[in-house]
Amino acid sequence: MKIAYLILATLVISVALLSCGADGNHPGYEYMPNMYRSPYYDTYTENPIFENGITSQTPVKGSIPRGFIPFEYENSLEDYLRAGDELKNPISLNSETLEEGKQLYEMFCKHCHGENGDGKGSITHPLYSGVPSYSDKLIPRRTGSSMSELKDGNIYHSITFGLNAMGPHASQLTQEERWKIVHYVNVLQKESN
Ligand code: HEC
Repeated sequence: MKIAYLILATLVISVALLSCGADGNHPGYEYMPNMYRSPYYDTYTENPIFENGITSQTPVKGSIPRGFIPFEYENSLEDYLRAGDELKNPISLNSETLEEGKQLYEMFCKHCHGENGDGKGSITHPLYSGVPSYSDKLIPRRTGSSMSELKDGNIYHSITFGLNAMGPHASQLTQEERWKIVHYVNVLQKESN
């Protein structure tokens, strides 16, 4: 009988102690409460610490995302020509990079530019009727030279910024991927007819 009372008393006391925390205003007994409850501000809530009054900070001016290499050329004719003169393909040409370039070309360019780069892709909408052949040797482009003579930097600039009906591809393709495609376009500049 005594034992039963003892158990009952223990239960009542523990419940009483535990239930202290049930009321949100009293945390119960805590030692070193800062260990469990660090003072913090929720994301995007107002706080007095930062100048703009909210927790999320805009990145420092000039900071760039990890892995992103800035492209120092603008979308202008002047910079297009400058890119042609100054840029060299940084990706070494071998069977692997060329194969990757081919695969990317087939995913991103083929439907307009055609399997072999002759400008006859599967898209037949009149808006995209003027797709030039990469191996064209006659009609002058922005460079004053023909498609087959476009330099790597020109091709890279066109992929990055697009041209008229051709949209920019900078957000779809990394810089490396764009340069691999340039290797493959070089092949089509010689081969497509
Ligand atoms: C939506 C269709 C479309 C897609 C997709 C497309 N192009 Fe084009 N591309 C065009 C058209 C149209 C032109 C001609 C634009 C003009 O001369 O006004 C063109 C022109 C070009 C030129 C010549 C630019 C110059 O400087 O004269 C290059 C190089 C080129 N494309 C490469 C590519 C590559 C590489 C891809 C894939 C990453 C690609 N294009 C994807 C439609 C497309």
